[in-house]
Amino acid sequence: MGSGGRECALAWKLSHSPLCGSFYIAPGNAGTSEYGINLPVSYNDFEGIKKACIEHKIDILFPGPEDPLVNGIWDFFKNDPALKHIIVAGPSKEGAQLEGSKAFSKKFMARHNIPTAGYKEFTIESFEQGVAYIKRTEPPVVIKADGLAAGKGVVIAQNTPDAIKAFRAMVMDKQFGESSATVVIEQFLDGIEMSVFALTDGENYVILPEAKDYKRVGEGDTGPNTGGMGSISPVPFADKAFMQKVTERIIEPTVKGLKAENIIYQGIIFFGLIKVNGDPYVIEYNCRFGDPETEVVIPRLENDLVELILKMHEGKLNEVTVQHSPKAAGAVMLVSEGYPGDYPKGRVMTGFEATKGSLLFHAGTIGKDNDIVTNGGRVLAITSYGDNIKQALRKSYENAALINYDGKYYRKDIGFEFE
Ligand code: AMP
Ligand code: GLY
Repeated sequence: MGSGGRECALAWKLSHSPLCGSFYIAPGNAGTSEYGINLPVSYNDFEGIKKACIEHKIDILFPGPEDPLVNGIWDFFKNDPALKHIIVAGPSKEGAQLEGSKAFSKKFMARHNIPTAGYKEFTIESFEQGVAYIKRTEPPVVIKADGLAAGKGVVIAQNTPDAIKAFRAMVMDKQFGESSATVVIEQFLDGIEMSVFALTDGENYVILPEAKDYKRVGEGDTGPNTGGMGSISPVPFADKAFMQKVTERIIEPTVKGLKAENIIYQGIIFFGLIKVNGDPYVIEYNCRFGDPETEVVIPRLENDLVELILKMHEGKLNEVTVQHSPKAAGAVMLVSEGYPGDYPKGRVMTGFEATKGSLLFHAGTIGKDNDIVTNGGRVLAITSYGDNIKQALRKSYENAALINYDGKYYRKDIGFEFE
């Protein structure tokens, strides 16, 4: 389910699995249709998804984005006699609260002693206390809408008045509707971020290749946040000792905590981490793969994804050894001019045949007549392998130059801090 670069990378991977007879993508994009069959069904249309699953005798449903998981697609399938035999590769609605509610995830981390920024939560009733808390907090202050806000629900305010303004907009003016009825205010952590992905069966887990994404639109990590402008894997600063800390302090207690609280969770846990003075802290949990991290994680995962999902379903991930490719991978995201603000759609894309040696994961593209045209802010992820990140990115950049459409933009400095 889904239509981005993440889903295109997953479709590419599934198409290589001998265990995968046929598969469908709802709704997919111009790239996913090279690997499977696109269905014109929105991933938020559970009845439409149900109909498609029955019609096509689906065995496994893999939700790409968070929305259907947070809205309870797992529970919807389990509670329907016609669907309950289908494996849903993702957590229950309750488990998806790790992403769906910042207040839930902060409380969960507190209960299980998982390192994260100190925080307090507030609502309209406690607005004045919230303001007092902000005044007591040394800026920058981090203000987060509790619920999903399409990636826009976090404000890092550099001074107290801006923090109060952002807090007021969320809680009093309902900037994100119900999603900002509760607001988490937390301590700013100064460090370097990365993404770690674990697949859990509720008892055991395996760790997939780690990644780093580049969220800001401008070079040198400047300008507004986007869905992600590029990604790399592996992450140079995530050495063995650091990953050991991540495993012991974060992954283990998360999986154990879910189990101890009887929260049904069979799927991906995405740990958004920040390294501060050598130690990992959780910035956020997500209940799905990241985008554009998936575009480098999946190419570096050597195991059969379908086999992993089946082992997950059987509760036998302890029998699996995950193989990370020794190659590095680097992805560069081509976007539409104006993104992450308003941008045009429908621009004809050319140059695909000229590219060589990269994987092209379509994001916002669609087939129109005999053309492929842009259909989103993020348009195409270009992923390459290399002996190191620099070499991988060099190849991606060579091919990025060969794709053409009006208003093409991409960051030229992905991986810049690891030169
Ligand atoms: P989130 O939606 O929680 O991932 O937050 C979006 C971005 O805001 C993160 O990727 C970080 O760059 C930043 N951020 C969130 N929380 C903090 C924090 N406590 N300290 C520093 N930066 C943060
Ligand atoms: N790249 C960050 C995310 O998928 O949320």
